[in-house]
Amino acid sequence: MNKSTQEKIEHLEQLNQKALEGGGLDRIEKQHQKGKLTARERIELLLDKDSFQEIGKFVTHRAKDFGLDKQVILGDGVVTGYGTIDQRLVYVFSQDFTVFGGSLSETHAEKIVKIMDLAMKNGAPVIGLNDSGGARIQEGVVSLGGYADIFYRNTLASGVIPQISAIMGPCAGGAVYSPAITDFIMMVENSSYMFVTGPNVVKTVTQEEVTSEELGGASTHGAKSGVSHFSCTNEAECIQRIRKLLSFMPQNCEDAPPSVAYDLQADETRSVLDGILPDNPNQPYDIREVIEGIVDEESFLEVHKDFAENIVVGFARLAGQSIGIVGNQPASLAGVLDIDASTKAARFVRFCDCFNIPLLVLEDVPGFLPGTDQEWNAIITNGAKLLYAFSEATVPRVTVITRKAYGGAYDVMNSKHIGADMNFAWPTAEIAVMGAKGASEIIFKKEINSADDPEAKLQEKVDEYTEKFANPYIAAGRGFIDEVILPHNTRIKLINAFSMLKNKVDKLPKKKHGNIPL
Ligand code: HXC
Repeated sequence: MNKSTQEKIEHLEQLNQKALEGGGLDRIEKQHQKGKLTARERIELLLDKDSFQEIGKFVTHRAKDFGLDKQVILGDGVVTGYGTIDQRLVYVFSQDFTVFGGSLSETHAEKIVKIMDLAMKNGAPVIGLNDSGGARIQEGVVSLGGYADIFYRNTLASGVIPQISAIMGPCAGGAVYSPAITDFIMMVENSSYMFVTGPNVVKTVTQEEVTSEELGGASTHGAKSGVSHFSCTNEAECIQRIRKLLSFMPQNCEDAPPSVAYDLQADETRSVLDGILPDNPNQPYDIREVIEGIVDEESFLEVHKDFAENIVVGFARLAGQSIGIVGNQPASLAGVLDIDASTKAARFVRFCDCFNIPLLVLEDVPGFLPGTDQEWNAIITNGAKLLYAFSEATVPRVTVITRKAYGGAYDVMNSKHIGADMNFAWPTAEIAVMGAKGASEIIFKKEINSADDPEAKLQEKVDEYTEKFANPYIAAGRGFIDEVILPHNTRIKLINAFSMLKNKVDKLPKKKHGNIPL
């Protein structure tokens, strides 16, 4: 007997209800007991109210082996669709751990691929909320194929649309490589982990005893490996962080970053900037104080906060406009450039350049970190990444040298010579081949050694060198510095400079793609 229209409507409503239950109320309860939200609760928190439009709610797997034909769950372990964040379109997938542990089957992968393809065609960001036991073990190679289909799209989408990954549970094995290709990774402390091989395999192969948290938890990847850009104390914070991060980004590489309305004030001077640098150039200060003094109030969002703390990177607003900031951090290792700092900053610079976000560089760098550890681990190749990233960036680029700009690091940190548009220096800047003491010990070696009082002679030469070279005026005299500015005028000078550069057009020579030293 044919069903009536009303019966058909009720049937659809029942199916919809069934799909919402995922792996069932018991498993949802288990998820909550672990302090975790469900896939749908996460989407609800992430997107603007009632904006989520689901795609593929009734998709089911096609597997028959190992009893899977008797376990068919609508949606197959991932909720996918689109919605808005601050009224801007985004695509989202959210893995449902209550369904086969969020494991990735052929059809689960197809759902993710479908929204990635839509995101590419429509030029909007993709957000992945990961909570998965990895490849659906019962499906074998088709699940591996599904992963590769996603990796491929992550790569094609790189630099076209922003891609953000939040890790909110397990993410192990080859599954880690999708987030790794995306632009930013967030992790939740104590409930998420990422590793290529887990603690058991590690123990078998290397005899090391390590917990999942130690091996690949949020603090490990936030501070030690640098795999993760943000460590969040809970899922709600993680989701808010995604929303804030997106507020600095355009929808795609052909779009301008969003700005907020800002009326220029009659007085944009910031006297606080005059008092941050200590009189002794060898004493540290926190570059974050300089950043806070320059940018719009409370607009700074630091990225990669706990990794390579000798360089600070993040987004902020300047007179309402999105900018990316790279600043040497004198409060950590004197702000020296090392391997981690170089790769951290290079990746950030490249992100900003992909997505038309102007770059501000705050420079106080004594040089590259010496030592066998650095040399043997390729500071040459890794330092070159930062040099390369700045050199090829075509977005507006402005540098402020607050204090030291020594040696090769002067060139690397967005110098005029590698294409920076405006270069400012504070009167405290020291732009030289190296510090006065090191320089004097080399060039006046004979004179110092043959002096009656070598120490006094060294000091005399240090003073002489400092007087002559440890200042911004020689560089300014050459035009390498466009203007020596008073610290309290930095904000207004930068507002004017970025406004002047707003319509900058710069193109790289025609090429397939460059060959950044990897
Ligand atoms: C199928 C899986 C699964 C998987 C978990 N489940 N992982 N089903 N394929 N990969 C199921 C479980 O059978 C269980 O089903 C439910 O999900 C919850 O799992 P539990 O083990 O009860 O949860 P928990 O104790 O929290 O442990 C979570 C876990 C563990 C650590 C993720 O399940 C686990 O180790 N899973 C296997 C991980 C793994 O080896 N994956 C393959 C990696 S290789 P029921 O019905 O009881 O609720 C890989 C290759 C990718 O991913 C390569 C890409 C290139």
